[in-house]
Amino acid sequence: MNSKYPQTRLQRYRRTPARRALFSETNLQVADLMMPIFVHESLSESQPISSMPGIFQLSVSDLGRELQELVDLGIGAVMVFGIPAQKSRLAEAAFDENGVVQRAIRFIKSSFPQLVVAADCCLCEYTDNGHCGIFTDDGQWDNDGTLQILEKIARSYAKAGVDMIAPSGMIDGCVGHIRQALDQSGFQQTMIMSYAVKFASAFYGPFRFAAGTQDVFCGDRHHHQLAPSQIREALHEADLDRDEGADVLMVKPAFPYLDILSQLRERSQLPLAAYCVSGTYAMIKAASEKGLFDEQSAVMELMMSMKRAGANIIVSYFAKDVAGYLKEGRI
Ligand code: PBG
Repeated sequence: MNSKYPQTRLQRYRRTPARRALFSETNLQVADLMMPIFVHESLSESQPISSMPGIFQLSVSDLGRELQELVDLGIGAVMVFGIPAQKSRLAEAAFDENGVVQRAIRFIKSSFPQLVVAADCCLCEYTDNGHCGIFTDDGQWDNDGTLQILEKIARSYAKAGVDMIAPSGMIDGCVGHIRQALDQSGFQQTMIMSYAVKFASAFYGPFRFAAGTQDVFCGDRHHHQLAPSQIREALHEADLDRDEGADVLMVKPAFPYLDILSQLRERSQLPLAAYCVSGTYAMIKAASEKGLFDEQSAVMELMMSMKRAGANIIVSYFAKDVAGYLKEGRI
């Protein structure tokens, strides 16, 4: 060792941008990104989402313009959420062959066949109480009844040509149930991206306005989503979904659960997705609007934290911004 301080050797790696790039241990690429999009059945023009600056509920007619923008930025994957014209007790609009998501999938697959399309498979935008499942007449959570509906939704998405079904409700048994339904209907090639590890999180707050559930949903999802204290239980959930046939396991929210993502990376051979949720987006937007930090640096640091923890896919409302930064080489 010829340096006086051992740190000097480490600092040699960091002297210039070119050296930092050469020795980068973790790399982010545009192919890692998946952009969530909200399509609203009854809007004639797109509307800004009040809780998430820069994100819109898209009208069906604006979908093409938005997708073109994504494709031009090099983004290769989207996750579709639908807001139906009509909510109901049994969420019938969710599995309508001409429902808003089914139409969006068909449109994307015919106009932008290069995109990987995931679609949210959940009831909360479609039920009149905003819950992710249905209840029996005497007010009990109806898990089996909910599975029956999820199965219909999944089949209708697969029929429309979706690449990945994304069951986001943490409904017991949903991955196995959906896998079986897909296989029996000839959709063996349709993938399941499971929200295997989903915490009951305050960070979903801004999403309610995006999904159109802000006025109907009250209560919480603690009985089927994980409590923030749970590590082993979270890993156990991931094991169950792997055994039920999940193709991708998701951790949601990614921040502040990067420890779980990292532990799952150590244990699992499956691809992992990290969902950088609405609350994280809104928080960063609010702080940068106040001039408290530089938005681009904060966003890229956040993206890198998810990659470092082991994410293969990053689902983020920042996808367009990140793709732009990467394209301009501004990192
Ligand atoms: C519900 C669903 C939620 C999100 C995606 N799907 C909310 C919830 O579980 O309460 C949140 C996404 C976000 O906050 O960005 N199926």
